[in-house]
Amino acid sequence: MVEDIDFKIVYPNIPIQKYLIFGERIRLALESAEVCKAGELLTIFLGNCSDSLSQSIHSELSDTEYGIFCEGNKIVLAGFLAAGIERDCQRFIDDISNVAKDAEKFYPDGFVFREKYYLWEPTLPAPEFISKIGVYNCGDDKYSLCYRAVKGAFEKYIKALTDASFLVVAQNAVNFNTLCVLERDGLTVYVNYHPRRCVLNISVTTRAYSLPSYTCEKEVCGYVLAQVWVKIGMGYVIRLRDGSFIIIDSGHTIDSERIIETLNQLDVLKKAKFKITAWIITHAHVDHYNGILMLAEKYSDQFDVRQFIYNIPDDSETVGYQVLDKRFNHVFPKALEQFGNPSVYKPHTGEKFDLDDIHIEVLYTHEDMFSEYLNEMNDTSTVLMMTIKSNKILFAGDIYSRGADILVSYYENNLKCDYLQVPHHGYQNGGNAIFYKYCAPKVAMIPMSGTVQGKSSINKTIGDLDVAGCRNILVTNQDIVKNILIELD
Ligand SMILES: [Fe+2]
Repeated sequence: MVEDIDFKIVYPNIPIQKYLIFGERIRLALESAEVCKAGELLTIFLGNCSDSLSQSIHSELSDTEYGIFCEGNKIVLAGFLAAGIERDCQRFIDDISNVAKDAEKFYPDGFVFREKYYLWEPTLPAPEFISKIGVYNCGDDKYSLCYRAVKGAFEKYIKALTDASFLVVAQNAVNFNTLCVLERDGLTVYVNYHPRRCVLNISVTTRAYSLPSYTCEKEVCGYVLAQVWVKIGMGYVIRLRDGSFIIIDSGHTIDSERIIETLNQLDVLKKAKFKITAWIITHAHVDHYNGILMLAEKYSDQFDVRQFIYNIPDDSETVGYQVLDKRFNHVFPKALEQFGNPSVYKPHTGEKFDLDDIHIEVLYTHEDMFSEYLNEMNDTSTVLMMTIKSNKILFAGDIYSRGADILVSYYENNLKCDYLQVPHHGYQNGGNAIFYKYCAPKVAMIPMSGTVQGKSSINKTIGDLDVAGCRNILVTNQDIVKNILIELD
Protein backbone atom coordinates (compact mmCIF):
# COMPACT_ATOMS: atom_id res chain seq x y z
CA MET A 1 0.00 0.00 0.00
CA VAL A 2 1.26 3.47 -0.81
CA GLU A 3 0.64 6.20 1.65
CA ASP A 4 1.35 9.89 1.56
CA ILE A 5 4.43 10.90 3.44
CA ASP A 6 4.04 13.64 5.96
CA PHE A 7 7.30 15.50 6.03
CA LYS A 8 8.91 18.87 6.45
CA ILE A 9 12.25 20.20 5.31
CA VAL A 10 14.20 22.48 7.65
CA TYR A 11 16.85 24.93 6.41
CA PRO A 12 19.63 26.82 8.21
CA ASN A 13 18.67 30.27 9.53
CA ILE A 14 20.40 31.95 6.62
CA PRO A 15 19.83 29.44 3.82
CA ILE A 16 22.10 29.61 0.83
CA GLN A 17 19.79 29.89 -2.14
CA LYS A 18 20.93 26.59 -3.61
CA TYR A 19 19.69 24.75 -0.48
CA LEU A 20 16.19 25.77 -1.48
CA ILE A 21 16.80 24.04 -4.80
CA PHE A 22 18.06 20.91 -3.00
CA GLY A 23 14.98 21.00 -0.74
CA GLU A 24 12.69 21.24 -3.77
CA ARG A 25 14.38 18.20 -5.33
CA ILE A 26 13.80 16.22 -2.12
CA ARG A 27 10.17 17.32 -1.93
CA LEU A 28 9.55 16.14 -5.50
CA ALA A 29 11.31 12.84 -4.84
CA LEU A 30 9.31 12.18 -1.69
CA GLU A 31 6.00 13.12 -3.30
CA SER A 32 6.54 11.03 -6.40
CA ALA A 33 8.22 7.94 -4.90
CA GLU A 34 6.16 4.87 -4.07
CA VAL A 35 7.31 4.61 -0.51
CA CYS A 36 5.46 4.81 2.75
CA LYS A 37 6.38 6.15 6.11
CA ALA A 38 3.09 6.51 7.81
CA GLY A 39 2.00 7.82 11.12
CA GLU A 40 4.74 10.18 12.12
CA LEU A 41 6.17 13.39 10.76
CA LEU A 42 9.50 12.95 9.00
CA THR A 43 11.78 15.96 9.48
CA ILE A 44 14.70 16.47 7.11
CA PHE A 45 17.39 18.95 8.12
CA LEU A 46 19.47 20.41 5.30
CA GLY A 47 22.84 21.50 6.69
CA ASN A 48 23.57 23.09 10.05
CA CYS A 49 20.13 24.06 11.35
CA SER A 50 18.88 25.44 14.66
CA ASP A 51 18.13 22.00 16.03
CA SER A 52 19.96 20.13 18.77
CA LEU A 53 20.47 16.95 16.69
CA SER A 54 21.64 18.85 13.60
CA GLN A 55 24.00 20.96 15.68
CA SER A 56 25.49 18.06 17.64
CA ILE A 57 26.15 16.14 14.40
CA HIS A 58 27.82 19.19 12.83
CA SER A 59 29.97 19.69 15.93
CA GLU A 60 31.45 16.24 15.21
CA LEU A 61 32.11 16.87 11.50
CA SER A 62 35.29 18.30 10.03
CA ASP A 63 35.04 21.19 7.56
CA THR A 64 35.01 18.94 4.51
CA GLU A 65 32.95 16.00 5.77
CA TYR A 66 29.33 15.45 4.85
CA GLY A 67 26.86 12.69 5.49
CA ILE A 68 23.38 11.43 6.30
CA PHE A 69 22.45 10.76 9.90
CA CYS A 70 19.14 9.35 11.10
CA GLU A 71 17.72 9.41 14.60
CA GLY A 72 14.11 8.42 15.03
CA ASN A 73 12.08 10.41 12.55
CA LYS A 74 14.76 13.03 12.06
CA ILE A 75 17.12 12.81 9.10
CA VAL A 76 20.05 15.21 8.98
CA LEU A 77 21.73 15.83 5.62
CA ALA A 78 24.86 17.26 7.17
CA GLY A 79 27.90 19.16 5.93
CA PHE A 80 29.44 22.63 5.74
CA LEU A 81 30.27 22.63 2.04
CA ALA A 82 27.26 23.12 -0.23
CA ALA A 83 28.93 20.58 -2.49
CA GLY A 84 28.72 18.03 0.33
CA ILE A 85 25.05 18.81 1.01
CA GLU A 86 24.34 18.36 -2.69
CA ARG A 87 25.91 14.88 -2.55
CA ASP A 88 23.84 14.10 0.55
CA CYS A 89 20.70 15.16 -1.31
CA GLN A 90 21.51 13.08 -4.36
CA ARG A 91 22.15 9.99 -2.25
CA PHE A 92 18.98 10.60 -0.23
CA ILE A 93 16.91 10.96 -3.41
CA ASP A 94 18.49 7.79 -4.83
CA ASP A 95 17.72 5.95 -1.60
CA ILE A 96 14.10 7.14 -1.66
CA SER A 97 13.64 5.83 -5.19
CA ASN A 98 15.40 2.54 -4.42
CA VAL A 99 13.57 1.71 -1.25
CA ALA A 100 11.07 -1.16 -1.45
CA LYS A 101 7.39 -0.26 -1.48
CA ASP A 102 6.79 -1.76 1.91
CA ALA A 103 9.92 -0.47 3.55
CA GLU A 104 9.18 0.70 7.04
CA LYS A 105 11.71 3.48 6.98
CA PHE A 106 14.23 4.97 4.58
CA TYR A 107 16.93 4.47 7.14
CA PRO A 108 16.99 2.53 10.39
CA ASP A 109 17.31 4.46 13.62
CA GLY A 110 20.95 5.31 14.19
CA PHE A 111 21.86 5.06 10.49
CA VAL A 112 25.06 6.94 9.59
CA PHE A 113 26.57 7.55 6.17
CA ARG A 114 29.70 9.69 6.28
CA GLU A 115 32.25 10.76 3.63
CA LYS A 116 34.81 13.46 3.01
CA TYR A 117 34.43 15.86 0.10
CA TYR A 118 38.19 16.28 -0.20
CA LEU A 119 40.37 13.21 0.14
CA TRP A 120 42.92 15.29 2.00
CA GLU A 121 42.22 17.10 5.24
CA PRO A 122 44.58 19.84 6.33
CA THR A 123 45.29 20.23 10.00
CA LEU A 124 45.03 23.98 10.43
CA PRO A 125 44.82 25.67 13.81
CA ALA A 126 41.22 26.72 14.50
CA PRO A 127 40.76 30.51 14.70
CA GLU A 128 39.77 31.74 18.15
CA PHE A 129 36.86 33.94 19.15
CA ILE A 130 35.33 34.19 15.72
CA SER A 131 32.32 32.46 14.21
CA LYS A 132 32.27 30.43 11.05
CA ILE A 133 29.98 31.63 8.28
CA GLY A 134 30.53 28.57 6.14
CA VAL A 135 32.79 26.66 3.81
CA TYR A 136 33.10 27.41 0.10
CA ASN A 137 34.39 25.14 -2.63
CA CYS A 138 36.79 27.30 -4.66
CA GLY A 139 37.38 24.45 -7.14
CA ASP A 140 40.80 23.23 -8.22
CA ASP A 141 41.38 21.35 -4.99
CA LYS A 142 40.97 24.48 -2.89
CA TYR A 143 38.35 25.40 -0.35
CA SER A 144 37.73 28.44 1.73
CA LEU A 145 36.59 28.76 5.33
CA CYS A 146 34.74 31.99 5.89
CA TYR A 147 34.54 33.59 9.35
CA ARG A 148 32.94 36.65 10.88
CA ALA A 149 35.97 38.33 12.43
CA VAL A 150 36.79 41.42 14.46
CA LYS A 151 39.92 43.54 14.82
CA GLY A 152 42.98 41.57 15.82
CA ALA A 153 41.67 38.22 14.51
CA PHE A 154 43.94 38.34 11.46
CA GLU A 155 47.15 38.91 13.42
CA LYS A 156 46.21 36.24 15.96
CA TYR A 157 45.53 33.72 13.27
CA ILE A 158 48.75 34.41 11.38
CA LYS A 159 50.59 33.90 14.68
CA ALA A 160 48.75 30.62 15.23
CA LEU A 161 49.85 29.45 11.78
CA THR A 162 53.48 30.51 12.20
CA ASP A 163 53.51 28.86 15.66
CA ALA A 164 52.38 25.72 13.82
CA SER A 165 55.47 25.99 11.55
CA PHE A 166 53.79 27.62 8.53
CA LEU A 167 56.11 30.02 6.70
CA VAL A 168 54.92 33.35 5.28
CA VAL A 169 55.60 33.46 1.52
CA ALA A 170 53.68 36.62 0.57
CA GLN A 171 51.94 39.54 2.24
CA ASN A 172 49.91 42.30 0.60
CA ALA A 173 47.72 45.12 1.83
CA VAL A 174 45.33 47.53 0.14
CA ASN A 175 43.25 49.92 2.24
CA PHE A 176 43.28 47.82 5.45
CA ASN A 177 42.54 44.62 3.51
CA THR A 178 45.33 42.17 4.11
CA LEU A 179 46.37 38.96 2.44
CA CYS A 180 48.99 36.66 3.91
CA VAL A 181 50.03 33.47 2.11
CA LEU A 182 51.74 30.72 4.09
CA GLU A 183 53.11 27.31 3.21
CA ARG A 184 53.97 24.10 5.06
CA ASP A 185 54.44 20.50 3.90
CA GLY A 186 52.79 20.94 0.51
CA LEU A 187 49.87 23.00 1.85
CA THR A 188 49.30 26.62 0.84
CA VAL A 189 47.07 28.75 3.06
CA TYR A 190 45.69 32.15 1.99
CA VAL A 191 44.43 34.30 4.87
CA ASN A 192 42.42 37.27 3.63
CA TYR A 193 41.02 39.81 6.08
CA HIS A 194 38.50 42.49 5.15
CA PRO A 195 37.91 44.59 8.29
CA ARG A 196 35.14 46.77 6.83
CA ARG A 197 33.09 43.64 6.18
CA CYS A 198 34.34 41.82 9.30
CA VAL A 199 35.22 38.84 7.12
CA LEU A 200 38.22 36.53 7.46
CA ASN A 201 38.67 34.02 4.62
CA ILE A 202 41.05 31.15 5.13
CA SER A 203 41.62 29.27 1.88
CA VAL A 204 43.67 26.13 1.68
CA THR A 205 45.01 24.12 -1.23
CA THR A 206 47.58 21.49 -2.04
CA ARG A 207 48.82 23.59 -4.99
CA ALA A 208 52.09 25.44 -4.56
CA TYR A 209 51.96 29.23 -4.48
CA SER A 210 53.13 30.90 -7.67
CA LEU A 211 52.25 34.06 -9.56
CA PRO A 212 52.30 34.90 -13.28
CA SER A 213 55.31 36.79 -14.55
CA TYR A 214 56.65 38.05 -17.86
CA THR A 215 59.66 40.07 -19.03
CA CYS A 216 59.82 41.93 -22.35
CA GLU A 217 63.09 41.27 -24.14
CA LYS A 218 63.07 44.29 -26.41
CA GLU A 219 61.02 47.51 -26.56
CA VAL A 220 59.70 48.03 -30.09
CA CYS A 221 56.47 50.04 -29.67
CA GLY A 222 54.25 51.95 -27.27
CA TYR A 223 51.35 50.71 -25.17
CA VAL A 224 47.93 50.78 -26.77
CA LEU A 225 44.62 49.80 -25.21
CA ALA A 226 41.87 48.84 -27.64
CA GLN A 227 38.22 48.57 -26.75
CA VAL A 228 37.22 46.13 -29.44
CA TRP A 229 33.98 46.78 -31.24
CA VAL A 230 32.15 43.51 -30.78
CA LYS A 231 28.62 42.68 -31.80
CA ILE A 232 27.80 40.89 -28.56
CA GLY A 233 29.69 41.27 -25.31
CA MET A 234 33.09 42.64 -24.41
CA GLY A 235 36.69 42.39 -25.57
CA TYR A 236 39.87 44.40 -24.92
CA VAL A 237 43.33 44.12 -26.41
CA ILE A 238 46.43 45.69 -24.84
CA ARG A 239 49.61 45.92 -26.86
CA LEU A 240 52.77 45.66 -24.74
CA ARG A 241 56.03 47.44 -25.44
CA ASP A 242 57.56 44.34 -27.10
CA GLY A 243 54.60 43.99 -29.48
CA SER A 244 52.99 41.09 -27.60
CA PHE A 245 49.42 41.35 -26.32
CA ILE A 246 47.23 40.94 -23.27
CA ILE A 247 43.65 40.15 -24.25
CA ILE A 248 40.67 40.50 -21.94
CA ASP A 249 37.62 38.43 -22.95
CA SER A 250 36.65 38.06 -26.60
CA GLY A 251 33.03 38.87 -27.30
CA HIS A 252 30.63 36.15 -28.49
CA THR A 253 31.20 33.51 -31.17
CA ILE A 254 30.34 36.00 -33.90
CA ASP A 255 33.13 38.32 -32.71
CA SER A 256 36.13 36.02 -32.96
CA GLU A 257 37.28 37.58 -36.21
CA ARG A 258 36.96 41.05 -34.69
CA ILE A 259 39.68 40.00 -32.24
CA ILE A 260 41.94 38.93 -35.11
CA GLU A 261 41.27 42.18 -36.99
CA THR A 262 42.18 44.15 -33.86
CA LEU A 263 45.40 42.20 -33.35
CA ASN A 264 46.29 42.83 -37.01
CA GLN A 265 45.48 46.53 -36.57
CA LEU A 266 47.94 46.80 -33.66
CA ASP A 267 50.52 44.25 -34.75
CA VAL A 268 54.08 45.50 -35.21
CA LEU A 269 55.92 42.17 -35.10
CA LYS A 270 54.35 40.73 -38.29
CA LYS A 271 55.16 37.18 -37.30
CA ALA A 272 53.27 34.03 -38.21
CA LYS A 273 51.57 33.95 -34.81
CA PHE A 274 50.25 36.63 -32.47
CA LYS A 275 52.16 36.46 -29.21
CA ILE A 276 49.65 36.55 -26.37
CA THR A 277 51.39 37.20 -23.07
CA ALA A 278 48.19 36.63 -21.12
CA TRP A 279 44.55 36.08 -21.95
CA ILE A 280 42.29 37.15 -19.10
CA ILE A 281 38.69 35.94 -18.85
CA THR A 282 36.53 38.01 -16.51
CA HIS A 283 33.69 35.51 -16.08
CA ALA A 284 31.93 32.55 -17.64
CA HIS A 285 29.29 34.27 -19.74
CA VAL A 286 29.21 33.42 -23.42
CA ASP A 287 29.39 37.08 -24.54
CA HIS A 288 32.82 37.17 -22.86
CA TYR A 289 34.42 33.85 -23.79
CA ASN A 290 32.61 32.21 -26.69
CA GLY A 291 34.84 34.12 -29.13
CA ILE A 292 37.84 32.34 -27.58
CA LEU A 293 36.22 28.97 -28.25
CA MET A 294 35.76 29.90 -31.91
CA LEU A 295 39.33 31.22 -32.20
CA ALA A 296 40.62 27.98 -30.66
CA GLU A 297 38.54 25.94 -33.07
CA LYS A 298 39.37 27.79 -36.27
CA TYR A 299 42.46 29.94 -35.80
CA SER A 300 44.60 28.39 -33.08
CA ASP A 301 47.52 28.19 -35.54
CA GLN A 302 47.63 32.00 -35.52
CA PHE A 303 48.07 32.23 -31.75
CA ASP A 304 50.95 31.64 -29.39
CA VAL A 305 49.20 31.92 -26.02
CA ARG A 306 51.52 31.95 -23.03
CA GLN A 307 48.90 31.77 -20.28
CA PHE A 308 45.22 32.15 -19.49
CA ILE A 309 44.14 33.94 -16.34
CA TYR A 310 40.68 33.24 -14.93
CA ASN A 311 38.86 32.18 -11.79
CA ILE A 312 35.51 30.59 -12.58
CA PRO A 313 33.27 29.10 -9.85
CA ASP A 314 33.14 25.35 -9.33
CA ASP A 315 29.94 23.74 -10.64
CA SER A 316 29.05 22.68 -7.10
CA GLU A 317 28.65 26.38 -6.17
CA THR A 318 26.46 27.31 -9.13
CA VAL A 319 23.57 24.92 -8.54
CA GLY A 320 20.40 26.30 -10.10
CA TYR A 321 22.21 28.60 -12.51
CA GLN A 322 21.22 28.53 -16.18
CA VAL A 323 22.74 25.74 -18.24
CA LEU A 324 24.78 28.25 -20.26
CA ASP A 325 26.29 29.62 -17.03
CA LYS A 326 27.59 26.17 -16.15
CA ARG A 327 29.11 25.41 -19.53
CA PHE A 328 32.59 26.94 -19.19
CA ASN A 329 34.20 24.26 -17.00
CA HIS A 330 33.11 21.61 -19.50
CA VAL A 331 33.98 23.26 -22.82
CA PHE A 332 37.06 25.31 -22.02
CA PRO A 333 39.50 22.38 -21.53
CA LYS A 334 39.06 21.61 -25.26
CA ALA A 335 39.97 25.21 -26.18
CA LEU A 336 43.06 24.97 -23.97
CA GLU A 337 44.05 21.82 -25.81
CA GLN A 338 43.55 23.50 -29.18
CA PHE A 339 45.84 26.34 -28.07
CA GLY A 340 48.52 23.78 -27.08
CA ASN A 341 47.71 23.68 -23.36
CA PRO A 342 49.14 26.99 -22.15
CA SER A 343 49.33 27.42 -18.38
CA VAL A 344 46.28 28.59 -16.45
CA TYR A 345 46.61 30.92 -13.50
CA LYS A 346 43.73 31.28 -11.08
CA PRO A 347 43.82 34.72 -9.42
CA HIS A 348 42.72 35.32 -5.83
CA THR A 349 41.79 38.57 -4.14
CA GLY A 350 44.72 40.44 -2.66
CA GLU A 351 47.30 39.02 -5.06
CA LYS A 352 49.58 41.38 -6.97
CA PHE A 353 51.83 40.49 -9.86
CA ASP A 354 53.69 42.07 -12.75
CA LEU A 355 53.60 41.22 -16.44
CA ASP A 356 56.72 43.07 -17.50
CA ASP A 357 56.17 46.60 -16.14
CA ILE A 358 52.39 46.25 -16.03
CA HIS A 359 51.31 45.93 -12.42
CA ILE A 360 48.13 43.97 -11.74
CA GLU A 361 46.16 43.81 -8.49
CA VAL A 362 43.36 41.31 -8.01
CA LEU A 363 40.57 43.26 -6.28
CA TYR A 364 37.71 40.78 -6.33
CA THR A 365 36.70 37.28 -7.40
CA HIS A 366 33.58 35.19 -6.83
CA GLU A 367 35.18 33.92 -3.62
CA ASP A 368 34.50 37.34 -2.05
CA MET A 369 30.76 36.88 -2.46
CA PHE A 370 30.63 33.83 -0.23
CA SER A 371 30.18 35.79 3.00
CA GLU A 372 26.79 36.47 1.46
CA TYR A 373 25.21 34.23 -1.13
CA LEU A 374 26.22 34.09 -4.73
CA ASN A 375 23.25 33.93 -7.07
CA GLU A 376 24.33 35.76 -10.19
CA MET A 377 27.10 34.79 -12.58
CA ASN A 378 27.86 38.43 -13.39
CA ASP A 379 28.90 38.91 -9.76
CA THR A 380 31.52 36.20 -10.25
CA SER A 381 33.53 38.57 -12.48
CA THR A 382 37.19 38.86 -11.58
CA VAL A 383 37.99 42.55 -11.05
CA LEU A 384 41.52 43.78 -11.74
CA MET A 385 43.32 47.08 -11.30
CA MET A 386 46.00 47.34 -13.95
CA THR A 387 48.71 50.01 -13.84
CA ILE A 388 50.35 50.73 -17.18
CA LYS A 389 52.94 53.49 -16.97
CA SER A 390 51.10 56.28 -15.11
CA ASN A 391 47.61 54.99 -15.95
CA LYS A 392 45.39 53.07 -13.58
CA ILE A 393 42.82 51.00 -15.46
CA LEU A 394 40.04 49.22 -13.60
CA PHE A 395 38.52 46.23 -15.38
CA ALA A 396 35.27 45.42 -13.61
CA GLY A 397 33.81 42.72 -15.88
CA ASP A 398 30.05 42.51 -15.50
CA ILE A 399 29.70 42.97 -11.74
CA TYR A 400 26.30 43.99 -10.53
CA SER A 401 25.50 46.38 -7.69
CA ARG A 402 26.20 43.76 -4.96
CA GLY A 403 29.70 43.10 -6.29
CA ALA A 404 30.26 46.85 -6.60
CA ASP A 405 29.18 47.29 -2.95
CA ILE A 406 31.79 44.77 -1.85
CA LEU A 407 34.47 46.59 -3.87
CA VAL A 408 33.52 49.92 -2.26
CA SER A 409 33.59 48.41 1.23
CA TYR A 410 37.01 46.87 0.58
CA TYR A 411 38.80 49.68 -1.20
CA GLU A 412 36.98 53.04 -0.97
CA ASN A 413 39.26 55.70 -2.52
CA ASN A 414 41.70 53.07 -3.73
CA LEU A 415 39.19 52.40 -6.51
CA LYS A 416 40.21 55.75 -8.01
CA CYS A 417 41.32 55.12 -11.57
CA ASP A 418 42.11 56.91 -14.80
CA TYR A 419 40.19 54.49 -16.99
CA LEU A 420 37.19 52.47 -15.88
CA GLN A 421 35.73 49.60 -17.85
CA VAL A 422 32.15 50.30 -16.85
CA PRO A 423 30.64 47.05 -15.52
CA HIS A 424 27.97 45.09 -17.32
CA HIS A 425 28.21 47.03 -20.58
CA GLY A 426 27.02 50.21 -18.91
CA TYR A 427 23.54 48.90 -18.16
CA GLN A 428 22.10 50.33 -14.98
CA ASN A 429 22.18 47.00 -13.10
CA GLY A 430 25.98 46.94 -13.39
CA GLY A 431 27.93 48.86 -10.72
CA ASN A 432 26.12 51.71 -8.94
CA ALA A 433 26.41 55.46 -8.31
CA ILE A 434 28.53 55.09 -5.15
CA PHE A 435 30.93 52.75 -6.93
CA TYR A 436 31.35 55.31 -9.74
CA LYS A 437 31.89 58.05 -7.19
CA TYR A 438 34.83 56.16 -5.66
CA CYS A 439 36.25 55.14 -9.05
CA ALA A 440 35.94 58.75 -10.30
CA PRO A 441 37.54 57.83 -13.62
CA LYS A 442 38.88 60.39 -16.07
CA VAL A 443 37.65 58.15 -18.86
CA ALA A 444 34.81 55.64 -18.78
CA MET A 445 34.92 52.83 -21.32
CA ILE A 446 31.56 51.26 -22.11
CA PRO A 447 31.73 48.11 -24.23
CA MET A 448 28.13 47.81 -25.37
CA SER A 449 26.76 45.12 -27.57
CA GLY A 450 26.74 46.35 -31.13
CA THR A 451 23.56 44.75 -32.33
CA VAL A 452 21.27 44.41 -29.36
CA GLN A 453 21.00 47.47 -27.18
CA GLY A 454 20.81 51.15 -27.96
CA LYS A 455 22.51 53.99 -26.18
CA SER A 456 19.37 54.90 -24.23
CA SER A 457 19.80 51.85 -21.99
CA ILE A 458 22.95 53.37 -20.48
CA ASN A 459 21.60 56.86 -19.76
CA LYS A 460 21.30 56.24 -16.02
CA THR A 461 24.92 55.07 -15.86
CA ILE A 462 26.11 58.06 -17.87
CA GLY A 463 24.24 60.28 -15.39
CA ASP A 464 25.94 58.55 -12.43
CA LEU A 465 29.33 58.92 -14.11
CA ASP A 466 28.61 62.58 -14.73
CA VAL A 467 27.89 63.09 -11.01
CA ALA A 468 31.20 61.31 -10.32
CA GLY A 469 32.91 63.93 -12.48
CA CYS A 470 33.50 61.77 -15.54
CA ARG A 471 32.47 63.32 -18.82
CA ASN A 472 34.81 61.51 -21.15
CA ILE A 473 32.83 58.42 -22.08
CA LEU A 474 33.96 56.05 -24.79
CA VAL A 475 31.19 53.81 -26.08
CA THR A 476 31.31 51.11 -28.67
CA ASN A 477 27.82 50.17 -29.84
CA GLN A 478 25.76 49.95 -33.00
CA ASP A 479 26.35 53.65 -33.69
CA ILE A 480 30.12 53.48 -33.25
CA VAL A 481 31.20 50.42 -35.18
CA LYS A 482 34.93 50.69 -34.81
CA ASN A 483 37.56 49.99 -32.21
CA ILE A 484 38.45 52.72 -29.74
CA LEU A 485 42.23 52.98 -29.41
CA ILE A 486 43.92 54.62 -26.42
CA GLU A 487 47.65 55.28 -26.39
CA LEU A 488 48.94 54.89 -22.84
CA ASP A 489 51.80 57.21 -21.92
FE1 LIG B 1 28.44 40.58 -20.53
